[in-house]
Amino acid sequence: MKAITELTFDEAKAELEYLATEIAKADSAYYQNDDPYLSDAEYDRLKHRNFDIEARFPELIRQDSPSKKVGAAVKNGFTKVSHSFPMLSLGDVFSTDEVSEFVMSVKRYLNTNENIEFISEPKIDGLSFSARYENGVFVQGATRGDGTTGEDITANLRTIKQLPLRLPADAPRILEVRGEVYMSKADFLALNEKYASEGKKIFANPRNAAAGSLRQLDPNITAERNLSLFAYTWGEVSERQWSSQADFFNHLKSWGFPTNPHNKICANISEIEQNFNHLMDIRATLPYDIDGVVHKVNSIELQERLGFLTRTPRWAIAHKFPAEQAQTIINNIRIQVGRTGALTPVADLEPINVGGVIVSHATLHNEDEIKRKDIRIGDTVIIQRAGDVIPQIIGVISEKRPSDSQEFLFPHTCPVCGAHATKEEDEAVRRCTGGLTCPAQAKERIKHFVSRDAFDIAGLGDKIIEDFYAENILLNPADIFTLEQRNGGDDLFSSAKGFHLERKEGWGAKSVDNLFKAINNKRNISLPRFIYALGIRQVGSATARLIAQNYNTFNNFMNDMIAKDTAKLVSIDGIGASMATDIVEFFAEEHNISIINLLLQQINVEEFIDTTKKDTLISGKTVVFTGTLQKMTRAEAKAKALEAGAKVAGSVSKSTDLVIIGTDAGSKAKTAQELGIKIINEDEFLSFL
Ligand code: IVH
Repeated sequence: MKAITELTFDEAKAELEYLATEIAKADSAYYQNDDPYLSDAEYDRLKHRNFDIEARFPELIRQDSPSKKVGAAVKNGFTKVSHSFPMLSLGDVFSTDEVSEFVMSVKRYLNTNENIEFISEPKIDGLSFSARYENGVFVQGATRGDGTTGEDITANLRTIKQLPLRLPADAPRILEVRGEVYMSKADFLALNEKYASEGKKIFANPRNAAAGSLRQLDPNITAERNLSLFAYTWGEVSERQWSSQADFFNHLKSWGFPTNPHNKICANISEIEQNFNHLMDIRATLPYDIDGVVHKVNSIELQERLGFLTRTPRWAIAHKFPAEQAQTIINNIRIQVGRTGALTPVADLEPINVGGVIVSHATLHNEDEIKRKDIRIGDTVIIQRAGDVIPQIIGVISEKRPSDSQEFLFPHTCPVCGAHATKEEDEAVRRCTGGLTCPAQAKERIKHFVSRDAFDIAGLGDKIIEDFYAENILLNPADIFTLEQRNGGDDLFSSAKGFHLERKEGWGAKSVDNLFKAINNKRNISLPRFIYALGIRQVGSATARLIAQNYNTFNNFMNDMIAKDTAKLVSIDGIGASMATDIVEFFAEEHNISIINLLLQQINVEEFIDTTKKDTLISGKTVVFTGTLQKMTRAEAKAKALEAGAKVAGSVSKSTDLVIIGTDAGSKAKTAQELGIKIINEDEFLSFL
């Protein structure tokens, strides 16, 4: 290649034109098709050459020059949309027993024996969308994303013929209609046939095809694919004109939205069951894929009383079709070591197609499970897969057992670090005692730390973590935030020698830059996420949130835990003694404290400000319920209090602000009186909200 100083004016002009086309092609492969063909290094070389030529011939800078595209679209090139109402998911169940349990839990929550009407809808196997209308005009489309923030797919949704772009005058002024975009079985087959004949990669199933078609940066591509949709719920709405889900479907129809013809009101559990079986029977004949049936409480008033759990409504459930089963052979049993040291046996299977997915591993849960089912290497087993659930081993076909097979001996040492693996009497799990000196535990902790509900650093995938750990670049969560400053240096830090990430295979200036950006984006973290990210045994997202709500700052929490002062902790409704022990043990570990201190030098943990209704009379207050309530169940009352920003404690103490008494209130009311704590009845409580 000619040195830039030797290029003539015409040569420079021709080369800039060539570079503009080449870089644009590479960009489109990378950003739009997720299928890059240039290495990062080659791509960077083109960009640099373009830049250098332009520096020498500024008069030749083209209108479409790659240097003009500031910060080009990020890989996820869609604009973010935050949902005014979160897009939730549904709890899954797999049996009619569980559906009955769900119906009973609804009744229990509402404290009624009366019959409750449901509506059962086919669960469309596509991807959910939200379409926003303002003054009757379609203004924005979004994907679900993580439920809180999705991607702006306005232009793409607009290309779907079934989506009304204008609504009749009687529609609410602001209306978000939500539903599922899918590709019909016929359109999917036709698309794959076309792709196969053109030598292109084909889609695995209609769902993937629909997702791949909708999430296109270029809406022209979406327009070429035949996508369809069904509407089934709503988000923000300025004036709700319907009182039931069935009523909502009538409105949807009158506004021009496609609704599923098999949605059916079910008067009782036996009708729910009947309808489920009917849909399972006709499943194969439907022109689109469904993977179960969604049962929803029909009345909106009851839906509102039932409310939501963290991510799912209490008033609906997805009843998935039964799992698909198959037979295969166990080639090996491997032991995986998790974040808390738990040894989990995994079966390596002779790969087998189960309901359209190739399965080659299955979890065996723990050593008791292997004993109970007497599972051995070489056995032929029945495996099943249900929805996205990890494949399970149902049982062994004993007639097919090889004559020389031997009982599986569960190891008593950690297969990764060799430390003793011990099992508490009342626990099913055997755990490695190596703590963070065990590489497996250390790596799993980092993976947990960056996972979706924790720091959510998507750029740090499992493979990268394994790789960086092996090279001593990333040994603990605190190392994540010093990666950038250590990169390129020599021996600056004890935990890792100098390294040059962009020189590593598979990396280039661009991907390194993206990684550091993704990390730097997370230097401010909410308190619940931070507590969850620490990976304390038993402390999941919901518990982390409870802790945050009650302690407000990380220091408040940590100081109490280091002092082993758990009085406040165990007073929180939902946190018990065993959890408290695990939390105190976590903070008693010197290593954990030093990692936390290193982290706190790098990041800012936000003070917890409760965003649930702040303006009620009980927000921020610690309340205790006692006695039998008349107008609502205890669970409902508790949920209402939490929603109103209160903390709910299980017992009365000096830190209690308010005691709500029902009938037959006992010792708690007495204690409250003695301590001079304000006592109110159920009606007063309701008026406080
Ligand atoms: S209702 C708050 N109805 O299933 C309730 N969801 O597993 C929101 N889905 O994210 C969902 N068909 O993508 C509802 N008739 C239906 C559905 C349906 C398919 C999908 C939807 C949702 C997922 C939850």
